Amino acid sequence: MPVITEIEDLKRIYRRRTPKMFYDYCESGSWTEQTFRENSSDFDKLYFRQRIAVDMTDRSTASQMIGEDVAMPVALAPVGLTGMQHADGEIKAARAAEKFGVPFTLSTMSINSIEDVAAATTKPFWFQLYTMRDEDFIRRLIERAKAAKCSALVITLDLQILGQRHKDLKNGLSAPPKPTLMNMINLATKWRWGIGMLGAQRREFGNIVGHVEGISDAADLGAWTAEQFDLTLDWTKIAKLKEMWGGKVILKGIIDAEDAKMALKVGADAIIVSNHGGRQLDGALSSIRALPAILDAVGDKVEVHLDSGIRSGQDVLKAVAMGAKGTYIGRAFVYGLGAMGEAGVTAALEVIRKEMDISMALCGRRSIAEVSRDILLVPEGFEGRWQG
Ligand SMILES: Cc1cc2nc3c(=O)[nH]c(=O)nc-3n(C[C@H](O)[C@H](O)[C@H](O)COP(=O)(O)O)c2cc1C
Repeated sequence: MPVITEIEDLKRIYRRRTPKMFYDYCESGSWTEQTFRENSSDFDKLYFRQRIAVDMTDRSTASQMIGEDVAMPVALAPVGLTGMQHADGEIKAARAAEKFGVPFTLSTMSINSIEDVAAATTKPFWFQLYTMRDEDFIRRLIERAKAAKCSALVITLDLQILGQRHKDLKNGLSAPPKPTLMNMINLATKWRWGIGMLGAQRREFGNIVGHVEGISDAADLGAWTAEQFDLTLDWTKIAKLKEMWGGKVILKGIIDAEDAKMALKVGADAIIVSNHGGRQLDGALSSIRALPAILDAVGDKVEVHLDSGIRSGQDVLKAVAMGAKGTYIGRAFVYGLGAMGEAGVTAALEVIRKEMDISMALCGRRSIAEVSRDILLVPEGFEGRWQG
């Protein structure tokens, strides 16, 4: 077992072990990747205030997200094709999250299905919904998530249309990979991945294949997905989905204060300040820079979470100190999963918890409840001063 001390260690092993197509799918942003880069680099513009001679005993990173106890304010973000990063990836990530005590969010575009993950776990997970034109399919998907006792519906609002990631087009991304010469050459060097995949429960989109008429293979599915994302999605439809679900709803993909106010109006239980990890609108603000204006607009009325760019416990601590009640990691857990399966996801969570705990202590705080903006040095104008 290699010594893992930081998320970057997992990323290095992940890159070695995973087919290029899936590594590139994960490690890309849209177009120039400006937002993808700034999501992380903007965290570096925030500094901690180190405090000394403060009793550091009895520390805890425990907290709550939407009323659920969490071992730390970090959930696993919904990540499509997780089961292509590692055999049965969704099941493994969900198990690691459950054991660690943090929420797992299953993507609509997962490989393992809602039912697979429910059968492999003992506590409720969260289900992420992409809104599609086929209303019957959406209704059935929501019913399946209810039957699986998911405790929150995360509705993603920033992907009615797909931001272009150049590498996915150049690589011909598909699940499972097509047997082209380039793919076969690359796969030949990823024997560990290949052996795992031979024994995997599924290699196609588990929530979709077999649940929609006429969809039996990935080629059909690609066409169906491109046709199906709902371009007409609006706040009336979001309110209807919320009603259909009837439980806790988290609205994901909000980066503008005006949209946060709309989310409040439809009665969201929480919102996620997110730009989809820089995979959608290139040139949008990083999540951490967008957070202050959103908190000013709705922070006292709805729980505000954040994702995009988190690669360390320090990043989590900064987001929480800025006012986020919870955070999510996407790529950071995928690196762990691709590197070492369930143990790798656990390792990613452990790295983050340790970094957060020690940084919190060095800021003179012993619990998440004690963490506030005054542990930070925030440069003047960090959130930007915009005309108009
Ligand atoms: C490979 C990959 C696939 C993703 N798939 C989905 C998805 O299916 N649904 C969704 O709501 N968000 C999806 N996201 C966005 C994540 O939920 C999350 O917003 C993002 O990863 C956060 O940024 P980070 O990766 O820098 O932590 C995906 C992100 C990545 C990297």
